[in-house]
Amino acid sequence: MKALPFGGAFLSYFWQMKILVTGANGFVGNYLVRQLLQNGQPVVATSKGDCRLEFDLKDNFEYVSLDFTDIEQVKKVFKEHRPQMVVHAGAMGRPDECEEKRELAFKINVTGTENLLHAAASLHSHFIFLSTDFVFAGDKLMYKEEDKTGPVNYYGTTKLLAEEQVLQYPFDKTIIRTILVYGKPLTGRNNILTIVKEKLENGETYHVYDDQVRTPTYVEDLCAGIIASIEKRATGIFHIGGKDVLTPFDMAYKVAEYLKLDKSLLRKVTRENFSQPALRPLLTGLDISKARNELGFNPISFEEGLKKTFHC
Ligand SMILES: NC(=O)c1ccc[n+]([C@@H]2O[C@H](COP(=O)([O-])OP(=O)(O)OC[C@H]3O[C@@H](n4cnc5c(N)ncnc54)[C@H](OP(=O)(O)O)[C@@H]3O)[C@@H](O)[C@H]2O)c1
Repeated sequence: MKALPFGGAFLSYFWQMKILVTGANGFVGNYLVRQLLQNGQPVVATSKGDCRLEFDLKDNFEYVSLDFTDIEQVKKVFKEHRPQMVVHAGAMGRPDECEEKRELAFKINVTGTENLLHAAASLHSHFIFLSTDFVFAGDKLMYKEEDKTGPVNYYGTTKLLAEEQVLQYPFDKTIIRTILVYGKPLTGRNNILTIVKEKLENGETYHVYDDQVRTPTYVEDLCAGIIASIEKRATGIFHIGGKDVLTPFDMAYKVAEYLKLDKSLLRKVTRENFSQPALRPLLTGLDISKARNELGFNPISFEEGLKKTFHC
């Protein structure tokens, strides 16, 4: 991390930077844009489709439809808006979809990232890339930033290839790896908590893995971690995750218990008896000591996240 030469004054200078966010219509992107705007930060929000962000915070906010797999569109938007910082949150993030549509997954997750890096380099912008615990093989708990990678599915492979491109970027760059993000989806993809609620409320059974281990991340904590990295102008790789170690079955069970839904509809499954198109890493979990020490990152517990998901 770079030292800030003029302390607070320099910090406030950076806080006035124009930040371009990709994947703004996504689950994480929506919360991130919201939190940046609440902090008074100018944002150019971009996503492939039309704007699906709904809030009153219109000052400092612009929305641009941008397909980042199209280099000409990317160049045009960067030339017009000249962001000093880019947070690349857009992706094809569903592992099964990536496995089944490999060519498209490569185009979105790898070529798209290369296009953005190319345009960002022309402005010397700071580039922040959102990555995943799925870059790891799943053979140990609580991975550290410097641990050996080795993805077991195509989603993880594309995210690792993109990470490698980001690491080659000649200007400031930050890679934020996160893990099983949950919360109330305002737009973008669903997550295990909201899927369990929907299934059990409809009286449907739900098969959920009990042989995988994760440290689930509350979405607003992830955004606070990203914003802390921006404020501190941190560079390098950071792991941002939750503090509780749980299996997906544990999470589903806690949701059912909390919402007083029928727990008997939950079916414990393992890699041996239930398969999906993309193999999942078994044991991950992210060691967040570096983010705690260098960014002041301090996530809430899963119990607190559960309450926020269903009551905020
Ligand atoms: N959610 C998790 O559990 C999790 C875990 C680890 C890492 N991550 C990473 O965190 C980031 C955000 O994930 P998320 O959960 O917010 O994903 P998400 O809800 O699926 O949102 C992804 C967004 O990417 C946009 N996008 C896709 N292709 C695009 C293209 N060609 N051009 C421009 N935009 C495009 C989509 O925009 P439109 O909707 O406008 O089409 C979509 O809203 C991703 O990098 C993901 O790999 C997520």
